[in-house]
Amino acid sequence: MAPPTNTTASSEDLATDILAALDKSQPLLSSDAFPNATFVDLKAALDRLASREMVKYDTIERQEALLEPEAEQIAANGSHEARVFEALRKAVEGLSVKELEEAIGDKNVVKIGQGKAFKEKWISKTKDGKFTAVADKINDTTQEQIKTVQQTKTHPDPKILADLKKRKLIRTQNIFSFKIHKGPKFALRIPEEATDLTADMIASGAWKTATFKPYNFKALGATQNGGALHPLNKVRQELRNIFFEMGFEEMPTDKFVESGFWNFDALFVPQQHPARDLQDTFYISDPKAADFPRADSPDDTKDYQAYWDNVKAVHQDGKYGSIGYRYPWSGDESLRLVLRTHTTAISANMLHKLAATKGPDGRPLPARYFSIDRVFRNETVDATHLAEFHQVEGVIADYGLTLGGLMEFMEIFFGKMGLHDLQFKPAYNPYTEPSMEIFAYHKGLGKLVEIGNSGMFRAEMLESMGLPKDMRVFGWGLSLERPTMIKYGISNIRELLGHKVDLEFVQGSPAVLLGQE
Ligand code: PHE
Repeated sequence: MAPPTNTTASSEDLATDILAALDKSQPLLSSDAFPNATFVDLKAALDRLASREMVKYDTIERQEALLEPEAEQIAANGSHEARVFEALRKAVEGLSVKELEEAIGDKNVVKIGQGKAFKEKWISKTKDGKFTAVADKINDTTQEQIKTVQQTKTHPDPKILADLKKRKLIRTQNIFSFKIHKGPKFALRIPEEATDLTADMIASGAWKTATFKPYNFKALGATQNGGALHPLNKVRQELRNIFFEMGFEEMPTDKFVESGFWNFDALFVPQQHPARDLQDTFYISDPKAADFPRADSPDDTKDYQAYWDNVKAVHQDGKYGSIGYRYPWSGDESLRLVLRTHTTAISANMLHKLAATKGPDGRPLPARYFSIDRVFRNETVDATHLAEFHQVEGVIADYGLTLGGLMEFMEIFFGKMGLHDLQFKPAYNPYTEPSMEIFAYHKGLGKLVEIGNSGMFRAEMLESMGLPKDMRVFGWGLSLERPTMIKYGISNIRELLGHKVDLEFVQGSPAVLLGQE
């Protein structure tokens, strides 16, 4: 905090001085009592006191007349005409212009003074051209008027004031001062003021006698920062727009905890798969087990027991033309609760529901779904990995889809993010066949970087759900963090997520347009 400035300190002293002066006599005229205080300081001190009802004040504006240098001279030595008269009175013989000028020592005074003295009939001219005094005694009214102004800063006769001003002997200026009275809460000191009613004050009863600071409705208040979207949310919004413009529907992803059934078994991930290891997956210890899969809305008429049986059969013994994995499938293992390791658990749930829809031909409807949300993996945390990240996932279900179609779609989709000339590399996922990793050339890094994982969901998975054999489903996923880090030039993920994130980075990061450089 900055130290209090002098104005504050002096306006505080001034406020106490005003109270002391007011205690002795009122009303108080500030120009008399505090001739040296500035208008601003006085007003600040008075407003402080007035807001507490300790004083009342009115602002008075008055005009002040000040002498010009010539008038100062007149006040000291008399008017020009009086000086001329005075010089002539002393010289019995009269004086020539030259002698008059010598006697007075100011040509100008003589020039103006003799004219005026003539008009006043104080002097006249002799036969030999000299000036001589004719009056016995004169009244120097100009000097009197000026002396009045000098002493009172005004003149009771406004006509005289106007005349002196016209003769450029005086100038006027407006003066503001304050007429101050005691207020209803007058005291010699400003009382301590409470700004808040606290629990302590209520408990102790101190609120009964406390003086509360009045609200200042004219105060501007502290400037507020608007909320700022985290860069991840900005990129997420960009991606959502891309999905929406391509006709995708957003999946409900408000479930961080899933059963192994939806996260793994429904996706044909065998129960011995390393991904299901403690090293890779967070298991929930309390409660340990999920309920048996069931409909989550009244209009869901799917037979969950049949689905469960199909999943078990396809894993254990094989079904739908697949020979399965041939191991004893465990229902208990399937009901273990996990923090979802991918949003593909939601896609499985949505595709299972899709199997119950009926188009005009009585068959399930084509669909395009997407989601962008958080997933969890029990990984060692390093510069580019956290135990959680956001997964962007898309799913397209339709009849007669081909791998070539998936590749073309990826070109369009990633093209909208500004990524072109994709490269595909065969890969493995338990739930897709074929599977492809997707690479794009990163200009900044000068090399190909992996940007996503994709594939066509396996028949073992889709047919267990009741989807027809000729309905094909593409799926792909990518992390939200990767494009965000690239766009914002961040190399350590801990600068993006978690307790080390710099709020100024969040507040200062601009929006991004993914398709543009
Ligand atoms: N679940 C995959 C992952 O975690 C992404 C993916 C989704 C791949 C759908 C293929 C199909 O990387």
